[in-house]
Amino acid sequence: ARRVRIHHLRELKERGEPWPMLTAYDMFSAKIFDDAGIPVLLVGDSAANTVFGYSSSLPVSVEELMPLVRGVTRSVRKALVVADLPFGSYQVSPEQALTTAVRFMKDGQAHAVKLEGGRRFAPHVEAITAAGVPVMGHIGFTPQSEHNLGGYRVQGRGDAGDDLVADALALQEAGAFAVVLEMVPAEVAKRITAELVIPTVGIGAGPDCDAQVLVWQDMAGMNQGKAPRFVKRYADVAGVLSQAAGQFAAEVRGGAFPGPEHVFH
Ligand code: KIV
Ligand code: NA
Repeated sequence: ARRVRIHHLRELKERGEPWPMLTAYDMFSAKIFDDAGIPVLLVGDSAANTVFGYSSSLPVSVEELMPLVRGVTRSVRKALVVADLPFGSYQVSPEQALTTAVRFMKDGQAHAVKLEGGRRFAPHVEAITAAGVPVMGHIGFTPQSEHNLGGYRVQGRGDAGDDLVADALALQEAGAFAVVLEMVPAEVAKRITAELVIPTVGIGAGPDCDAQVLVWQDMAGMNQGKAPRFVKRYADVAGVLSQAAGQFAAEVRGGAFPGPEHVFH
């Protein structure tokens, strides 16, 4: 199996072939998605919500994310694994950003890192890429800035669209290999996608991005909570697991499990 490299993603953009990206946080999900042909897996700081039970992404730490990154990178043969830099681990300075990125590359054996922010984070992106580490940008609605942005809302409407284009161009100029556009009007995402030579990865950013990303528990119906408008549920994993757990419980209580075939003598 040939490993996915950042130049492959640029080639897909040049050929006009959209590609999928999913989050992954552990061995089984990573293996399944890798085998299903998902070329890029993100160990998102969304692990705050999907793994650790926090109600926002702000509390999750490098120490909490590191073993998840390691688990995912050890489990894939082809996929390019991107480690998300959590809140507080890169905003202080480009030097802090580089130090944290290096930790994820060395201790987590990630293939790339991702951070949130536009023009003001171009120096951080530049410091990391100069060290030889590929960086994915993330603009539009950036969950780590939730309290400054006034909650979960679409970014880049009206005149703010020009700011997003400038942010995207600055990240590309700084050396980013791709940029996530989250909750951005489809028209703005289309404009950014046309202006950039690096791929855009949309989440709630319409059909014209070069790639699409979803949190796997949202995509697979593991998360039973109310999903944002941009989520499509492709399965009912929560229903399947709930049914399995219920049947296991009933069979233990009723004496049907274990059966003769499960027993040693
Ligand atoms: O943390 C995450 O899952 C993300 C994606 C939704 C882009 O940043
Ligand atoms: Na994230």
